[in-house]
Amino acid sequence: MDINCLLKSMTLREKLAQLTQLESSLFTADENGVLTGPLSVMELTPEDVGCAGSVLGATGAEPIRRIQEQHLKNDPHGIPLVFMMDVIHGYRTIFPIPLAIACSWNTEYARICAELSAAEATAAGLHVTFAPMMDLVRDPRWGRVMESAGEDPYLNSLFAQSYVYGYQGENPDELSHDNRHMAACIKHIAAYGAAESGRDYNTAEVSDYTLREFYLPAYKAAVEAGVMLAMTSFNTINGIPSTMNKKLLRDILRNEWGFQGTIISDWTSLQELIAHGAASDKRDAAQKALQGGLEIEMMSNCILQNGEELVRKGVVSEELLDDAVRHVLELKEKLGLFEDPYRGASPERERAVIGCKEHREAARKIAAGSMVVLKNEGDLLPLKREQRIAVIGPYGTARHILGNWICRGDENEAVTLYEGLSVKTEKENIRVVKGVDCRSSFSDPMIPLTDEAVREVKEAAEWADAVILAVGEHSDMSGEARSRAFLDLPEEQQKLAEIVFSCQKPVVTVLFNGRPLDLRYISEKSAAVVEAWFPGSEGGNAVADILYGDILPQGRLTMSFPYCVGQVPVYYNHGATGRPYDPKNPEERYVSRYTDIPNEPLYPFGYGLNYTDIAYKEIILSENVLKDSVKVFVTLENIGNRAANETVQLYIKQPAAERVRPVLSLKAYQQIFIQPGEVQTVQFLLERENLAYRHMDGSFTADSGKYEVHIGANSADTQSVSFIIE
Ligand code: NOJ
Repeated sequence: MDINCLLKSMTLREKLAQLTQLESSLFTADENGVLTGPLSVMELTPEDVGCAGSVLGATGAEPIRRIQEQHLKNDPHGIPLVFMMDVIHGYRTIFPIPLAIACSWNTEYARICAELSAAEATAAGLHVTFAPMMDLVRDPRWGRVMESAGEDPYLNSLFAQSYVYGYQGENPDELSHDNRHMAACIKHIAAYGAAESGRDYNTAEVSDYTLREFYLPAYKAAVEAGVMLAMTSFNTINGIPSTMNKKLLRDILRNEWGFQGTIISDWTSLQELIAHGAASDKRDAAQKALQGGLEIEMMSNCILQNGEELVRKGVVSEELLDDAVRHVLELKEKLGLFEDPYRGASPERERAVIGCKEHREAARKIAAGSMVVLKNEGDLLPLKREQRIAVIGPYGTARHILGNWICRGDENEAVTLYEGLSVKTEKENIRVVKGVDCRSSFSDPMIPLTDEAVREVKEAAEWADAVILAVGEHSDMSGEARSRAFLDLPEEQQKLAEIVFSCQKPVVTVLFNGRPLDLRYISEKSAAVVEAWFPGSEGGNAVADILYGDILPQGRLTMSFPYCVGQVPVYYNHGATGRPYDPKNPEERYVSRYTDIPNEPLYPFGYGLNYTDIAYKEIILSENVLKDSVKVFVTLENIGNRAANETVQLYIKQPAAERVRPVLSLKAYQQIFIQPGEVQTVQFLLERENLAYRHMDGSFTADSGKYEVHIGANSADTQSVSFIIE
């Protein structure tokens, strides 16, 4: 396909249409053939819909083929539509939420999740997914932390690349004939996760240094992995909305990082420039966004309505417009759509692949690998098969364990906790009592705990050797537009927990949720706590695997769990203050501390338990002066009775630098399998470039001076040695 030749043959209007993305419901006509839906609200005409270049939200091989076929009959140039959708953690087979997958610290899991999701989604006709979302997060009040990988730029970058490779394959040039992969879209550029007060869509104030050091690296890593699209974020950064942010889109993304793909807005975010107070009307919005570097406008029509006038009056040059259209056409070409506009989607392929055994097995393994054991007093876990277990709480039998952004996932296909446990032990060893329902929203009225329910709960707990308290948020309490000011469990579940704890039985609390919660009470009263997140279609089986020790826990938190909401944002890689608090000197007054709560989070970044104890021995360096690199060795011994998957974490601290550096920064980690009694030495290679950071003059280099290498089981439990760069 000669794209330049095609471009030359297109009218201005046709070009603008390529820059417009509309939702699939607009493409469906009523029985009289009249296009329905919010056309008038959006000031769209049926002609606008007829000519749009891409479609959002359609799924299914048959419907998509129908829309494409109809479109191609009318398109004068035979330019196919490109179909996009949010395939975030699965299409129909739902994997755990992305925050959970990140807690596996296993980037291969991210790749597999993306690859299998792409296999299902492409069978159903989709070409592009709006994933991965790689917004660094520090504030669990923000509902979208569930979609992120957490608070660390290094880990997020590794995950960003794995997701991109999983969706697109290792080589995007092969996508034109590899219809089992799809194009990925890195989002939301930029710093959407820095929304002030954790309130969705809110302003972000981020210094250039913080943006570069923390928020941008994961997006950049996705670009390096060849991601084909980038989506702008809803927010402003330092007063400039991302949708029209020239510095971000043209200077950084395009010129500095060499991004060659297509830049798309978020849903109506271009029109929202008016509400932001950054554009006077739709024409002004279109002008600013196009000049800023935006290309596809999702779900509004500022460009479509005003582009012709802007070009005619010379406000926006036709070359600039052509560049944008070229990127859209190139995307279609790279996807092979000019050769096969359906990319091989078919009901047969759908039947063969969607929800198949291989995908379900992978979903189970990944879900188990994502769970984090937060507490395990008296080795209550793993449970013993002969124990009598009472499963109490709404999540014993709930199927809404898929989380938010589930594409075409079906809760009816989710395995409940009770179902998962039932195959691990004799049926007569398990009783299940719901106690109370789970509200789907905090604005719903509180559900009363009836006397009858209290009686049942107590009876079951008294019968049992151990209780599994299965509680959490409703899956619709985390996700877009799901910010919360409090991080507690819903009140009725809190009350249920009090009743269970009053029965004086050992309690394992299993949590189903999409964000770090305030777990002070649960943690204090439970003998064991397992963070199961929203574990996806195979959730119940995966939790049972962990509880009975058939799969060893390996999850480690990638987002700190605050002590309480007043600490938020609390994250491990913060800067040091001039008046640090020394816990050995608790009476000292004029230091950076709270007077009513600890400074430390309840559970820190990197934290998670094994079913055994691992001892870390001394760290040894190959040399004390780093020239190009230094080797770091640490020996571990499994001093308990069970095997473990240990995640050995290496952090750096630079005590004196040009600017205040984080108190710790993750630079490397390794996951090892270690048998009881076994001793293993782990080796890391630390290179000079690992120590580089952005200096005040914009250079990215490592300073001379002293560095500390910290190694340990989590960010709050490390030992260290130091070296220097001369
Ligand atoms: C809004 C969300 O912010 C974005 O992540 C998503 O991709 C689009 N809607 C499309 O569904």
